[in-house]
Amino acid sequence: MKMSTWAIVVAAGKGERFGSMKQLERLGGKTLIEWSLELFSRLVEDEMVEGIVLVVPPDGCGTYLPQEKVADIPGSTSKISNVHVVAGGDSRSASVRSGLAAVPERAETVVVHDAARPLASPELAKSVINAVRNGASAAIPALEIVDTIKEIEDSKVLRTLDRTRYVTIQTPQAFKANVLRRAHESGHDATDDATLVEMIGEDVVTVPGERNNIKVTTHDDLVRLNRLIESEETEPLSKLRIGNGFDMHRFGRRDDHLVLGGINIPHNKSLMGHSDADVLTHAVIDALLGAAGLGDIGHHFPDTDPLWSGADSIEMLKQVIEMLHNQSYRVVNIDITAIAESPILSPYIVSIQSRLSEVTGGGINVKATSPEGMGALGNEEGIACLASALIAMVA
Ligand code: CTP
Ligand code: MG
Repeated sequence: MKMSTWAIVVAAGKGERFGSMKQLERLGGKTLIEWSLELFSRLVEDEMVEGIVLVVPPDGCGTYLPQEKVADIPGSTSKISNVHVVAGGDSRSASVRSGLAAVPERAETVVVHDAARPLASPELAKSVINAVRNGASAAIPALEIVDTIKEIEDSKVLRTLDRTRYVTIQTPQAFKANVLRRAHESGHDATDDATLVEMIGEDVVTVPGERNNIKVTTHDDLVRLNRLIESEETEPLSKLRIGNGFDMHRFGRRDDHLVLGGINIPHNKSLMGHSDADVLTHAVIDALLGAAGLGDIGHHFPDTDPLWSGADSIEMLKQVIEMLHNQSYRVVNIDITAIAESPILSPYIVSIQSRLSEVTGGGINVKATSPEGMGALGNEEGIACLASALIAMVA
């Protein structure tokens, strides 16, 4: 039986620091509430989430949401069928409790999100939900701290903390439903739900957060988010970088499959290499490193390093994506050409595209061509791959 997961979107704050109800502010033509509803409606479409509870201020959102009916939320789509709207409380925790009371008993996992974070991605929500489905009591997104942290009192520095021991925390946060219910029984207030879960002694795990998952607290945050959205929409040329990658691997021992783009492809021999010899992923890695001006695959993953012996190349790709993110790049798209006499790749192209798109966050196009029997490739001595990657600076 499928695991029932419900989402709670809290949007019942007063926005005191912002100066007005920020959840009704528009970003790229949609209110912040609509961004979060859209995020979870995508998960409803993917059957990852069963329903959504939207928590709004007790007196509604003025003329914006006069009745407790989601159909009245301008711009929200009727395809979001399973949304309950409930009134929140005086504190964020009280609002979550109101939301939790509307989550059906059958829910096994609950994911809680602040409407003040419009740019959380579906992938982030899925990653916390999956961590809980795989056994964690609670999973929350965390970001490494890049600035130095000091403890102060009256503007005077008391001491400097070891920043590697600290992270900043975002929403969405996912929980085993019974754990979250127990955590909220105390009626305590905290700035996030994980704090209450920690207080009842349950373990909380972290997953990598997202730099763009900015919380709107003051007007400056909204200005930053607007700039981000604009850059996503227009991508000024000065922020784009292009790179190419090429790799070849020789066929080796008799086997029952080879690996391309992280997908096992049935074949009577595998490719030879220090890692899993995923020649397609290697070309992609080189294209991305090239675009970011970060050298090449041999530099970062030397074939003399036993760590990468037999390694899953997708793990290397994940590390490269992390390097790009740390430099504020995101992947726009990657185009790949595989040159192989055999095996026939067309049945696997869609799987490769979705796997690489999942890992890189960019659009992926894979093409395969036959060398028409010419030369070493035509002689089925190995496979070659070319890749072009476009990346964009996001901040
Ligand atoms: N929230 C809520 N109910 C409350 C307080 C907060 O549902 N009583 C929600 C907010 O709408 C927001 C999220 O919790 O989506 C995070 O809270 P915060 O950023 O603090 O928003 P506000 O409380 O609205 O802002 P402020 O603290 O400046 O008043
Ligand atoms: Mg608040």
